[in-house]
Amino acid sequence: MARLKVAVLISGSGTNLQALIDACAAPAFPAEITKVISNRPGAGGIARAERAGIPVQIIDHKAFADRTAFDTALNEALCASGIELVCLAGFMRLLTAEFVTRWHDRLINIHPSLLPAFKGLHAAHQAVDAGVRVAGCTVHFVRAEMDSGPIIVQAAVPVRSDDTGESLQARIQQAEHLCYPQALKLIAEGRVKVDGDKTQLLDEGFTEERRLINPD
Ligand code: GAR
Repeated sequence: MARLKVAVLISGSGTNLQALIDACAAPAFPAEITKVISNRPGAGGIARAERAGIPVQIIDHKAFADRTAFDTALNEALCASGIELVCLAGFMRLLTAEFVTRWHDRLINIHPSLLPAFKGLHAAHQAVDAGVRVAGCTVHFVRAEMDSGPIIVQAAVPVRSDDTGESLQARIQQAEHLCYPQALKLIAEGRVKVDGDKTQLLDEGFTEERRLINPD
């Protein structure tokens, strides 16, 4: 069966990109990354894509007059490559409503909190400051409002009493590296149905024993 053609958009170190690259390396994995786009010329993730032999395009947002012009270039690059699904992986640019609508239900994001809690920047620091006992990460379809949209996969990460934002973020990222490939696999297998503001996982095989990663 044809594998789903995926683009990964990055701005930084690209550890989530790496997790997706590693998952896609399995011949039976139902998706392949055919393009990586970075809006920052110095992003560490660029070398990860190059090592994996994936075409990389740098679209530097600073070269564009405004968000609309940048998003237009982004959209053209994705369409030219026949991309079917876009994964935001530490892509730290707000996208215009036009772009989000254009890629409706074909654009997903990972965020280091149990959404809808702690949207925006420094989510792990927000969690520590709020004193929550359980933090986590979320993979979700993107909607125009920042860090919102139907949730696909979440994982819970316990907060330790001596956690700093940095130590918690490091453990959340370990959970992210499990969740993002899992979410991509579910979508590529056609097992995620968007139903209003939620998703339904088809053939989920839910058991009460299931642990804190959903699905584990
Ligand atoms: C990840 O923790 C991701 O959840 C977060 O940026 C980090 C990127 O790390 N994204 C957001 O906060 C988006 N709101 P990476 O470059 O090593 O994958």
